[in-house]
Amino acid sequence: MELPFIEPYKIKMVEPVYTSTRDQRENWINESRFNLFNLKAEQVTIDLLTDSGTGAMSDRQWSALMLGDESYAGASSYYNLKNAIEEITGYKYFLPTHQGRAAENVLFSALVKEGDLVPGNSHFDTTKGHIEFRKAIPIDCTVDIASDFTNQDSFKGNVDLQKLEVVLKNNPREKIACIIVTITNNTSGGQPVSMANLKGVRELADKYGVKFFIDAARFAENSWFIKIKEPGYADKTIREIVLEMFSYADGMTMSSKKDAIVNMGGFIGFRDEELFRRASAFNIIYEGFITYGGMSGRDMNALARGLYEGTDFEYLSSRIGQIDYLGSKMKDFGIPVLQPFGGHAIFIDARQFLPQIPEQEFPAQTLAVEIFIEAGVRSAEIGALMADRDPVTRENRFSGKELVRLAVPRRVYTDNHMDYVAVAVKNVFDRKEEIKKGLKIVREAPILRHFTIEMERP
Ligand code: F0G
Repeated sequence: MELPFIEPYKIKMVEPVYTSTRDQRENWINESRFNLFNLKAEQVTIDLLTDSGTGAMSDRQWSALMLGDESYAGASSYYNLKNAIEEITGYKYFLPTHQGRAAENVLFSALVKEGDLVPGNSHFDTTKGHIEFRKAIPIDCTVDIASDFTNQDSFKGNVDLQKLEVVLKNNPREKIACIIVTITNNTSGGQPVSMANLKGVRELADKYGVKFFIDAARFAENSWFIKIKEPGYADKTIREIVLEMFSYADGMTMSSKKDAIVNMGGFIGFRDEELFRRASAFNIIYEGFITYGGMSGRDMNALARGLYEGTDFEYLSSRIGQIDYLGSKMKDFGIPVLQPFGGHAIFIDARQFLPQIPEQEFPAQTLAVEIFIEAGVRSAEIGALMADRDPVTRENRFSGKELVRLAVPRRVYTDNHMDYVAVAVKNVFDRKEEIKKGLKIVREAPILRHFTIEMERP
C-alpha cells in the first residue's frame, strides 16, 4: 500500500481552543454588532477569519528571533533578510515595511498620483484602498471565468490580457501608474495566476512602456499550482518557479504574514535602483530607516527563515492539501463552494446558499454570522461590504459576488479541526430555509468599512 502523505513537521507547543454554548455565541455576535472582527479571539472556537499573521512559526524561526540584531542601521538581521529576498525573488533592492499595506503605501507614494489608472486582477481591498485614497482608479481586468464558480479552469486568477491591452491602448502612458498582478488572486477565491499569464503581462508592459508589480502575498502557493497544473513545470523546483515568476515583474509588494509564515512584516522588492531610491524617502517617513522599516531585527531574522520554509514543496503540498481536504468535505455535503479550491481558503457562494436573502441584506455577512452562531467558526465576508461604496456615487457596489471565506492559518489546525468546520457549515446548510432575514448597516466608515462596520437584524 502506498504510504499516505504527511505534514513535514511535528508539534512541539500547543495553545487552547475555546468552546462555548450557542446562547453565549448569540449574545457575543449581538454585542459585536454582527461584525466578526469585533469578536474577542477567546469567543472563537476555530478562527478562519484570515490566514494573515496567524501561522505557526517553526522552532528554527523562534531561535532566529534570539539572534536578532537590533541595531538601528545596518543590522545583521537586515542583511540576512536582504540575502534571503535576493536569493528567493531575484530582486536586488528591497525595503522592509511593517506589513503588506505599508509596502503598498510606500510604493504607491512613489508611483501613483491623482487621476492615474492601476489595472490588475481583482485588487485586494487594501490595494484598492491605497489607490482610491490617492484619487486614482483601480481597473479590474480579471478573466471573466473567475466569476463562474464551477468552471474548472486551473488558472482563474489570471489577468484577461485583452482587457488589459484595451486599458493600456486607450490611455496615455503617463496615466498608467503601474500594473499590479496579485498572486494568488485572493479576492477571486485564492485562484492562481499562470506563468504564461505573467509573461503575457510583461509583454504588454514592455509594449506600452509601463511598470509591472506583483502583489506577492501568496507567491509560494501560486508557484505550487504552476508546478502541479501548468504544462512544462512539473520537473522544476518551487524556487525555480518563484524566480521565473518574479523575473517578469519590475518589483513586488509583500505581506510576509502569509507565505513567509511570520506574524508581522512586509517588504517591497525592486529591480530598478532609481525607483528604490525614490521609494526609500517614503519608507523613512512612514516606516523607519531603510534597514529596518517597521520591523525589529528579530522579526527580520524570522522572516528570512520563513521565506525558505514557505517555499518548501513538501510543506506547500500539505498546506494546500489541507485546503483541498476541507473543500472536498464541504462539496460532498452539497455546499456550494467555489471550485477549483484555491490555495489558502475555501469560499462559499452565499447567493446560492441563501437565495432568499436579497443583496441589500448582505447574504455573505449573514451566512458568516450564522456559521459563527452554529459552532464558533469565524470566517470573513468577501462581498458587498468589503467592496465599499463607489467613491464618486457613494452607492453600494453590488457586483453579485457574495462569498464567505474560510481562510486556513498555516501549520495551525489539524484535519480534525477541518472536519468540525465542514460539519458546522453543513448544519447551517441543513437549516438554511429558516434564515429569513439578512442584515442592515447601522454605522460604517467611508473606506475599508468592513473592518469596523456595525449592523443589525432588520
Ligand atoms: N495583498 C493581498 C493579496 C492580501 O491578501 C493582503 C492581506 C494584503 C495585500 C495586505 O497585507 O494585511 O499585511 O497589510 N490580506 C489579509 C487577508 C488581511 O485576510 O486576506 P497586510
